[in-house]
Amino acid sequence: MSKIKRIWSYEILDSRATPTIECVCLLESGVLGVYSVPSGASTGTHESLELRDKDETRYRGKGVLKAVQNVNEVIGPSLVLSGIDATKQSEIDAKLIEMDGTENKTRLGANSILSVSGAVCKAAAAEQKIGLYEWINKLAIEKGIKAKMHIPTAVFNMINGGLHGAGNLDFQEFFLIPASTKSFSEGLRIGAEIYMVIGQNLARRGAIHSVGDEGGYAPNLFTNADALEIMVEAIGQANYQVGRDVFLGLDVASNTFYSDGVYTIRDKSAPLNEDSLISYYKELNNIYHMAILEDPLYEDAWEGWKKLKSILGSQVSIVGDDLLVTNIKRLEKAIQNDSCNAVLVKPNQVGTISETLDVIKKSYDANWKVMVSHRSGETNDSFIADFAVGVGSHYVKFGAPARGERISKYNRLAAIEKELLYKNESSK
Ligand code: PGA
Ligand code: ZN
Repeated sequence: MSKIKRIWSYEILDSRATPTIECVCLLESGVLGVYSVPSGASTGTHESLELRDKDETRYRGKGVLKAVQNVNEVIGPSLVLSGIDATKQSEIDAKLIEMDGTENKTRLGANSILSVSGAVCKAAAAEQKIGLYEWINKLAIEKGIKAKMHIPTAVFNMINGGLHGAGNLDFQEFFLIPASTKSFSEGLRIGAEIYMVIGQNLARRGAIHSVGDEGGYAPNLFTNADALEIMVEAIGQANYQVGRDVFLGLDVASNTFYSDGVYTIRDKSAPLNEDSLISYYKELNNIYHMAILEDPLYEDAWEGWKKLKSILGSQVSIVGDDLLVTNIKRLEKAIQNDSCNAVLVKPNQVGTISETLDVIKKSYDANWKVMVSHRSGETNDSFIADFAVGVGSHYVKFGAPARGERISKYNRLAAIEKELLYKNESSK
């Protein structure tokens, strides 16, 4: 095993030309772990703090030099001085949490803290000469998670709206989900083929079809439901069947169209109250039989979530993202309140690998579905793919099957799929 020799970090750019932090953990053996932190656009109010410089003379205030400084001058030296071994992930994360000392990591920033947590994790896997997903699986088991390594079902974001798209849709993400009976590589092919057809169809209709932040098309359409209709049409043209080969879903990210107790969407001429919006989801579900519905209501509408879960929860995975923000206390409240039945897991919402594992354990214990997620601002780091395999999540969502920073994750899953297969065969 190997002690941490030095930790350093620096600014790099994410997929939106926005600075983010990359961190390197060097072990005494000479092994390196390098990890970069993603960043959200439609962030939940209750997420941990993403520390930004707010110096308008650099990167329009979005620089992360303070976070870099916190790693280089505070966190790194302290871990090196402690003489701790890189394989002690939960002890290291506990130290990071203690060093910060605040509820939402407002002193050091969740971005600086997670950069270290992730770099240490990668270094520990490399040191042991095992796959990152295998190391994460060991950490998960150490936490009491009965996780079986497997490739999760991909949830592709084919059409981007809301804060992620230059088009006019209110709903943020229109999902295509290959049937879980398909292998990952089959699912990837299905996703890519349907993606191509959607693009051709949108171009033919003259709907603008540039892509949004997560690589899905960002069209101008009459209603949000039209985007679902376009997907259904493309699925048929690609020779697949909804409900057999693929399923549909939505991350509506409703915070972005909620204001003063009402929800405003282009599908309806007047703003909707909570009950009317729930009825509209019911209507959409009757037509499209959705597998997943994420953030259907505002992030603090606890009673509404409960009502919606009681109506649609037996048919649909109701996913809490902005509601739960990978925060164990909000998760506990949601389990108690019966608010949803699935959790979106984003390590940078909370700030350490260990706390992320705690959230996954609690979700599994409650019999919830787990969807491990990228952020809309990404780098080419594929850590999150290994993480999802290691914890054995049901779903992953890494955006469209297009654009480098999304593809680096899906391609990593394709590689792990084969690695697991051949390793398994060779050990027989
Ligand atoms: P974000 O979007 O990364 O911009 O928060 C992803 C999501 O809402 O799931
Ligand atoms: Zn979301």
